[in-house]
Amino acid sequence: MVETTISVIKADIGSLAGHMIVPDFILEFARKEMKKGVETGVINDFHVTNAGDDLELIMTHHKGEGNAEVHELAWNTFVKGAELGRKKKIYAAGQDILADTFSGNVKGMGPGSAEMTFEERKSEPIAVFMADKTEPGAFNYPIYKIYADPFNTAGLVIDPNLHDGFRFVIQDVRVDDKPFVELKTPEESYDLLALIGSTSKYTIKKVYRHDGMVTAAISTDKLCYIAGKYVGKDDPVAIIRAHSGLPAMGEILEAFTLPHLVAGWMRGSHIGPLIPVGVKDSRCTRFDGPPRVIGLGFQVSNGTLLGPVDMFEDVAFDISRKRAMEAADYLRRHGPFMPHRLHENDMEYTTLPAVLEKLKDRFSAEEIVPK
Ligand code: 13P
Ligand code: 13P
Ligand code: MG
Ligand code: MG
Repeated sequence: MVETTISVIKADIGSLAGHMIVPDFILEFARKEMKKGVETGVINDFHVTNAGDDLELIMTHHKGEGNAEVHELAWNTFVKGAELGRKKKIYAAGQDILADTFSGNVKGMGPGSAEMTFEERKSEPIAVFMADKTEPGAFNYPIYKIYADPFNTAGLVIDPNLHDGFRFVIQDVRVDDKPFVELKTPEESYDLLALIGSTSKYTIKKVYRHDGMVTAAISTDKLCYIAGKYVGKDDPVAIIRAHSGLPAMGEILEAFTLPHLVAGWMRGSHIGPLIPVGVKDSRCTRFDGPPRVIGLGFQVSNGTLLGPVDMFEDVAFDISRKRAMEAADYLRRHGPFMPHRLHENDMEYTTLPAVLEKLKDRFSAEEIVPK
């Protein structure tokens, strides 16, 4: 049986009127490049969309994860798209392109990616979640809810296939030496939460069912560690399989109703609510946000994509959006104060250290009495 791979590769290669949306001409260009990719047999099928200012390439193929041809197709689409963007002087053209030459995989080069390979089931519903103005750790909360919280996912209690729990692969994004650890729920839920509650350090990379069936993949790429400075946030993506022995699509979507607080927003330096929105509202405005997530549902069908369903474009999420805007309004009144502004440790790669540097020599051992 031939396996299908879903590769979601994304980058911010430039946007309209600030960090708001990917311009139509870039989306059209990307669709043309993807079509060529299908014609030349690099990929099987694709869907191109935008999460705010991030260009999202959702691709299916049979070449496995980390495939050089697939990654090169995405990379070249970003590089050529950015060039078009520079000509038209769109904002921050080429923002996430942090390398000069392609080296076989987009990892470590700026773009983010999540990939998953499986043998298609009799029916294969999947969700692709794409967020703007936040970071990979933003998915820790909903992913935990989906696979480990019986108050979110009824199947954990009702469905015998889910009863034996899930295996979480966690990545420490701040270390290169031994970054990965596997934890199993429900047995190790408290240990798992001890790690993934620290969203800027530990991110969920993949989730497998107890029997080893892959069920979720999340991008964990951190731009600042590649660039060594703030160039934009690491707006993340996640791929999740649903139903038939896995959480139902409705259980997956339920995890986004809070809306929980995430790091990102203005200058990647603020805490704000993650608002679930339809593609038509995938546009970060107020204070460059608030952070948003879109969710597209597909059926993977013999290596092709049927759909999408724009899953958050539904009145069922109106209450979450309202709650999010109330939280956003409340948080905004804190201005430059923590915890609306991120902790100093998380501001390391922003422009704040340059400001603090100026004040460095004015500190004194003795209390200063102004004369
Ligand atoms: P599955 O058995 O296909 O997971 O569907 C369960 C269901 O009824 C969803 O609400
Ligand atoms: P992006 O990471 O979405 O480009 O946003 C950058 C930013 O600084 C917004 O204020
Ligand atoms: Mg941007
Ligand atoms: Mg973005």
